[in-house]
Amino acid sequence: MTSLDRKTRGRTAHGRLQALDVYLVHRERELLARDEGAWARAAFVDLGFGEHPWTTLDSAEAFRALNPRLPVVGVELEAARVESAQAHADALTDFRQGGFDLPLRPGESVRLLRAMNLLRGYRPEEVPGIHRQLGQALLDGGLLIEGSTDTPGAVLVAHLLRRVPEGLSREALLFHTDFSRGFAPVLFRDWMPRDFRRRVKPGEPIHAFFSDWTAAWQEARAAGHEAPPEAFRHSVLGLASRVEGVTTEPWLLDRGYLLWNPPGGIFQ
Ligand SMILES: C[S@@+](CC[C@H](N)C(=O)[O-])C[C@H]1O[C@@H](n2cnc3c(N)ncnc32)[C@H](O)[C@@H]1O
Repeated sequence: MTSLDRKTRGRTAHGRLQALDVYLVHRERELLARDEGAWARAAFVDLGFGEHPWTTLDSAEAFRALNPRLPVVGVELEAARVESAQAHADALTDFRQGGFDLPLRPGESVRLLRAMNLLRGYRPEEVPGIHRQLGQALLDGGLLIEGSTDTPGAVLVAHLLRRVPEGLSREALLFHTDFSRGFAPVLFRDWMPRDFRRRVKPGEPIHAFFSDWTAAWQEARAAGHEAPPEAFRHSVLGLASRVEGVTTEPWLLDRGYLLWNPPGGIFQ
């Protein structure tokens, strides 16, 4: 363990991160499939897979539809969790004990690093350092995804952080809901990534974003778009007219995804 790593509970669930898998297969095909040079041995690393490696295995299956030779490494701080995951290891799927200082082997690199539902036990001021450390493991162009979901995975918010020559770019925030809890922008507030979790309050830029989204949602409902999927779609279209960088691709809107990549990236 390094000075940053901390033991936490291991709760997870089958399908919890499936919406994220679906998003990545749609929007990050090249990242998942490329195999030139160092990319041939560039893994998907699932950091903090939990008591059971279900989400790692779900993603391995989804991503290998694009890249059948994709190496997958599940990493956990807790030795007992790594031990019981070994039953699912194979030639391309490995489970290793480790933390933010990833246990990579010589010649291995990382294309996609996921740290979902991991940082709740950490302090918000630790997050930038953790992001920086994790970003160092990525190939240029690689992606770090860090965020939270509710237990079944019906509500998700994640940072998309891209490795660029200058370091790690805070490229976008991704929101998703499957509408099983209805829809209002406030639904996402309790599932914000660790650094924004307690910052949805007046004076903070993330609060301004939620205020704009809520105003757009109220307008959508007033115009008769009351069913959650319709209210969501129209709220995102309204938000896009107020805030720069909101993606209005129908594929995303039809499936409950809001992707926000403002020019200059997501503020700290
Ligand atoms: C709540 S579980 C999340 C499981 C899964 N990622 C999910 O989203 O369902 C968090 C897991 O992260 C592990 N963990 C916490 N800090 C870690 C670190 N620095 N490195 C590796 N694993 C860590 C904990 O041991 C725990 O099993």
